[in-house]
Amino acid sequence: MIRSILLLLSSLLLAAGCTPQSPEPRPAASVEVAAPAQAEGETHTLERNVVQTEMQLLTTVLENAVRGIGEGDVSHIGDELHQLDDAKHATEAAVEDGSYTLPRNSDQLSTFLAMDNAFHGQLEAMVHASSANDVPAMARAMGDTLNACHSCHALFRDP
Ligand code: HEC
Repeated sequence: MIRSILLLLSSLLLAAGCTPQSPEPRPAASVEVAAPAQAEGETHTLERNVVQTEMQLLTTVLENAVRGIGEGDVSHIGDELHQLDDAKHATEAAVEDGSYTLPRNSDQLSTFLAMDNAFHGQLEAMVHASSANDVPAMARAMGDTLNACHSCHALFRDP
């Protein structure tokens, strides 16, 4: 899983560096996330839960950060990361009031919340790199951020 994310990100990085006219970064808030394909005859609408919404938004911001690193401008990433805050608060509220149940180890809520908090702390390093428009610092901070995905998924996400 982490391997395929890294492969995807590195191929995006190559694409961002080698294409003369790379696509503009997509604003994270307005990104339409494709719903999973519905089985034929199925009529109900498939909706993403709060964590899936947060994760999709996160993935989009990280993709944009890779493009920014390739283009030598990461100044917009901080704003995009701040948009994740709302998603994070929605997750915390839903986990705490029981309207969202973790796919695995749902009894270990405090561990999940602690990991989520620590993770968002790591995203702060990306915000700082963005404020300084410091491309190498952004790349280092992203590496740390990407290293954190798997430990949480291994505990709480369906295999
Ligand atoms: C604090 C825990 C935590 C961290 C850290 C975390 N995730 Fe997740 N992620 C989850 C959980 C829990 C799910 C499963 C959500 C569900 O299906 O209800 C998930 C699911 C996902 C999904 C699937 C979303 C969907 O629509 O089904 C993606 C993509 C994802 N994560 C990306 C990432 C990436 C990339 C990182 C690291 C940069 C990351 N996550 C870090 C907890 C985490």
